[in-house]
Amino acid sequence: MKKRILIVAGARPNFVKIAPLMREFKKHKRHFEVLLVHTGQHYDFEMSDVFFQNLRIPNPDIYLDVDSASHAIQTAKIMIAFESTVLEQKPDLIIVVGDVNSTLACSLVASKMNIEIAHVEAGLRSFDRTMPEEVNRMVTDSLSDYLFVSERSGLKNLKSEGVNSEKVYFVGNVMIDTLSDNLEIVDQSDILNKLRLTANEYSVLTLHRPSNVDSRETLTEVFDILTSISREIKIIYPIHPRTKKMIKEHNFSGRFKKLDNLLIVDPLGYIDFAKLVKESKFVITDSGGIQEESTFLRVPCLTMRENTERPITIEKGTNYLVGRDKTKILSCVKKILNGKSKKGSIPELWDGKTAERIIKILLTKEGDLISF
Ligand code: UD1
Repeated sequence: MKKRILIVAGARPNFVKIAPLMREFKKHKRHFEVLLVHTGQHYDFEMSDVFFQNLRIPNPDIYLDVDSASHAIQTAKIMIAFESTVLEQKPDLIIVVGDVNSTLACSLVASKMNIEIAHVEAGLRSFDRTMPEEVNRMVTDSLSDYLFVSERSGLKNLKSEGVNSEKVYFVGNVMIDTLSDNLEIVDQSDILNKLRLTANEYSVLTLHRPSNVDSRETLTEVFDILTSISREIKIIYPIHPRTKKMIKEHNFSGRFKKLDNLLIVDPLGYIDFAKLVKESKFVITDSGGIQEESTFLRVPCLTMRENTERPITIEKGTNYLVGRDKTKILSCVKKILNGKSKKGSIPELWDGKTAERIIKILLTKEGDLISF
């Protein structure tokens, strides 16, 4: 009998993570019947559809249409809709990825209905419970039956939380599968021409975490930092809808628009964004995935957070944790501009074969258990 699987995706980073899984499952139609569930957490063309197009992900089989709301309302709405889906579809297993509200909501539902859960990108911890994603990670991991880990810190974290090692598999990073699969297409993107940019002569900014953009105080600090960086190098900022909303709410739009050398653009699709990062001098971000992608592309990354759940990007990669410390940020920028930043190396198992390993494990149910 074929194993019936629901793969859940809801927000932008999820689409990047499910793409290689969907592709790999296609090769095993004899063994698996896979249905894609889109919760609708992200619904705009630039936040969702363009990723399906760019990454050649098949249209979702089931769309839950929940859209934006407070955390409790969004999570509850996804749970209600997903419960009906599970009742109708009767899956043997659900696969959730990453740490967004959709990941948590669907894991909770599956767990209460005694459906097995596989969590891709398990074990990452920022040890900062003020981040909504940290709560989502911890709860999802505690409910999961298969925990697929992207870097060794995840193995250590799960061990110290008492997770049974038989459920834990060190498989590598699906986001890097997607990036390495698409490198040739990325190189063909004409985004640099479109934005009139020269390779290596600009930086890329992404900021959307509540801790950076939700209050007037933090936005003021961010604006001050960007003003200083923009004196050194041009900044391209594909702006997240939540940040756009916050900048408007706090009456900052005029100031941001007037800043010379800061170019604010709409959110970009996967291919154009990857090209923009690949050819940039450095990236400034508070995203999780971009810390990993820049490490793989060997582009320096300044992470405007106090912590990271992806420490391998600092230990092995090109990432620097800088928070909103202006002095630290400017000294890193100078180092990079003088060609003195760390060059980094590619972390273990970030080799483009993670989805293949995950599906092999699901096929055999045994796989190569890594002891930890
Ligand atoms: C979510 C994830 C975060 C991830 C980010 C990537 C959680 C808790 N957070 O944060 O981990 O890094 O996605 O983008 O799940 N909005 C739109 N159009 C959209 C989607 C959102 O305009 O298509 C606006 C809405 O006004 C909404 C706000 O963005 O209020 C935030 O969206 P939401 O999905 O709640 O969280 P993100 O901040 O995007």
